[in-house]
Amino acid sequence: MLTRGPDHDAATAALWSPRDPATPDGLVHYATLAANSHNAQAWRFRQTAEGVAIRPDMSRALPVADGDHHHLYASLGCAAENLMLAAGAAGRSSALEFTPEGDGRVEVALGQGGGADPLFEAILARQCTRSDYDGRAVSAADLAALEAAARVDGAEVMLITDPARIAQVLELILTANAAQVSDPAFAAELKSWLRFNARSAIETGDGLYAASSGNPTLPTFLGRFMFDRFFTVAAENDRHARQVRSSAGLAILHSDRDDPAHWVQAGRSYQRFALQATALGIRHAHLNQPVEVAATRPQLQSLLGLGSRRPDMLLRFGYAPPMPRSLRRPVAAVIDA
Ligand SMILES: Cc1cc2nc3c(=O)[nH]c(=O)nc-3n(C[C@H](O)[C@H](O)[C@H](O)COP(=O)(O)O)c2cc1C
Repeated sequence: MLTRGPDHDAATAALWSPRDPATPDGLVHYATLAANSHNAQAWRFRQTAEGVAIRPDMSRALPVADGDHHHLYASLGCAAENLMLAAGAAGRSSALEFTPEGDGRVEVALGQGGGADPLFEAILARQCTRSDYDGRAVSAADLAALEAAARVDGAEVMLITDPARIAQVLELILTANAAQVSDPAFAAELKSWLRFNARSAIETGDGLYAASSGNPTLPTFLGRFMFDRFFTVAAENDRHARQVRSSAGLAILHSDRDDPAHWVQAGRSYQRFALQATALGIRHAHLNQPVEVAATRPQLQSLLGLGSRRPDMLLRFGYAPPMPRSLRRPVAAVIDA
């Protein structure tokens, strides 16, 4: 069995380290450290006269897990939020606009005189932590700070800490998860983004590294074989139920409307939630199954009393040690001239 090894540790340390946010490459570096669906990094960056444009890279879309590109645009929002925080750290102001023409793109206009937001400091420490948590509750003050941080134009977070309500949402997670795990197309797409060992994680600089999810690292052929055997509804539902029961609560990002401009805003809201959580020593991980599966999304909406508001992402949060980090492609691979 391969271990995580010094190569992955070295790649992690080199990637998750400071850059100069006053340079275009520095800004894009911080943007690429954002959370993004399957770590597919379906984004391209270009310097414009006004600032930076971020557009989708449809060759990296997820046709099965994200058929309508909701997560893709949310991921662009995550990247934009990091970029804007980095701009602020360099004393620049920023304003975001979503342009729907073509595949749509995010335009970040940069100006002079912006202030630093303390969330910037959390960018290098943030991660999605897919382990069991320790069951400790989060204080009311920290819950309030998470809600405040996640409030952006058109999107916000709802936090759930009531055990009975968590149990109801967990039922939907398990129903939706069973639908996804038993869909061969979903499993095949997921498998194509899994990186079963450090070498393939480093070579591609993308995808979901086995150790980041607490799985053993294996040669790729063996990892694929084990995935086919052990990726079952029973095993995955057990894991998710345990993870939710060990968490302090659930977080639902929701937005005013169901369109790409609001998916971007939901991504920004989530990225801010994740950075604020990181700053407070609180971990989080996604459990988006009920928003991804068409049949369960309206059930989640009505269970939470969201009315016509769109549930965008579902997460759990709580306390746990960090897990091995995920990698990114270099800035040069995602910048267009
Ligand atoms: C819109 C969106 C959807 C995501 N969906 C899931 C998910 O369903 N399950 C999961 O474990 N992680 C999910 N993630 C987390 C990504 O897999 C994670 O951000 C990526 O692998 C990079 O890892 P890092 O955030 O730890 O740097 C999602 C992230 C975003 C932005």
